[in-house]
Amino acid sequence: MTDKANAEMAKFWNGEGGQKWVGREDRLEASLQPFGQCAIDAAMISGDERGLDIGFGCGETTIQLAAELGPGGHVHGLDISTTMVEAAQNRAKRSAVKNISFECADAQTSALPENHYDFVFSRFGVMFFDDPVTAFKNIYRSLKPGGRLVFMCWAGRDDNAWVRLPLEVVANYISVPALPPSGTPGPFSLSDETRVKSILNEAGFCDVAVEPFQTPFVLGADVDEAVSYLMELSPTGGAIRLADPDGDVRASIADELAALLDSHNSESGITMDASGLLVTARKV
Ligand SMILES: C[S@@+](CC[C@H](N)C(=O)[O-])C[C@H]1O[C@@H](n2cnc3c(N)ncnc32)[C@H](O)[C@@H]1O
Repeated sequence: MTDKANAEMAKFWNGEGGQKWVGREDRLEASLQPFGQCAIDAAMISGDERGLDIGFGCGETTIQLAAELGPGGHVHGLDISTTMVEAAQNRAKRSAVKNISFECADAQTSALPENHYDFVFSRFGVMFFDDPVTAFKNIYRSLKPGGRLVFMCWAGRDDNAWVRLPLEVVANYISVPALPPSGTPGPFSLSDETRVKSILNEAGFCDVAVEPFQTPFVLGADVDEAVSYLMELSPTGGAIRLADPDGDVRASIADELAALLDSHNSESGITMDASGLLVTARKV
C-alpha cells in the first residue's frame, strides 16, 4: 500500500487487470450487456444532456449512452487505466458515435468540473475507491443540482453463483482467501445496501435507492472459454493467483471447473446466476 489514493487499483488496472480485460473485450461486453442496459434504462437520458461514465473499461457503455443523446448531448468517460482509454478510443472509432470523449483519471481525486453533468453513470466501475465517501463527494460536486447518479455494482459474493460455485471447486485444492473486510476496494465493496446508502448520503446524495438485478451471467460460449475466463480474470482467477502462485494445482482445478461448467451449458453458452445492485440517487 502506498500513500497515493487508489495506488493498488491503478497498478492492477494499468497492468495485468487491464490487459486481461481488454484481451476478452468482446466476451466481457456480451456478458455484462444486460447489467449495463438495466442501468442505461434507469438513467432515462435524453436530448442534449451531458453525462459522465466512470470506469468505462472498453468504452461500450459510454458509446451506448452517447448514442441515446441528441447532437448537442455529450458523454465524457473517465477511467484510471491508460490501457482502457486506448481500447475505448479504438472502440469509439469503430462506432458512428461522435459526441464522446475519454480521459485517463481517478474519479476519486480528479478535479471534475463543478455543477456540470446532468447524469453520472457507471457499470461496475465505482467499487474500487479506497475512500468511497471522498470519491462520491467528488462525483456529487460534478453534477448539476437535480442531476442523477446511476450505477450497477455487484451484490454479495454468495449471491452470485458464477463466483460462489467455482470458488467451491477451487477450495477443494487450495485455501480460498476469506472475504476481505466489508468495504475493502474490489468487486464486492458496495454489495451491502445499508453501506451504499450511508456512503451516498454522507456524500450529499438524496433519494438513494438500491434494487437487486438478477440475470444469468454468460461465462463463455463454451466450456473451454468459460474455464479460461474463470482461471484468468474473475474472482476465481484472483483467488488462484494468490493461493497457488506456482501453478501447481491449476491443471486439476481446470479439469474440475470444466466438469462443473459442463452442467451449466445453455443455449446462450455457459451460464450461471448472477446478481447485481442497481443504485440510483440524486443531487439535491
Ligand atoms: C470491472 S471494470 C468495468 C469496466 C466497464 N465499466 C464495464 O462494465 O465493462 C472496472 C473499471 O473501473 C476502472 N477504475 C477502477 N478504479 C477507478 C477509479 N478510481 N477511477 C476511474 N476508473 C477506475 C478500471 O480501470 C476498470 O476499467
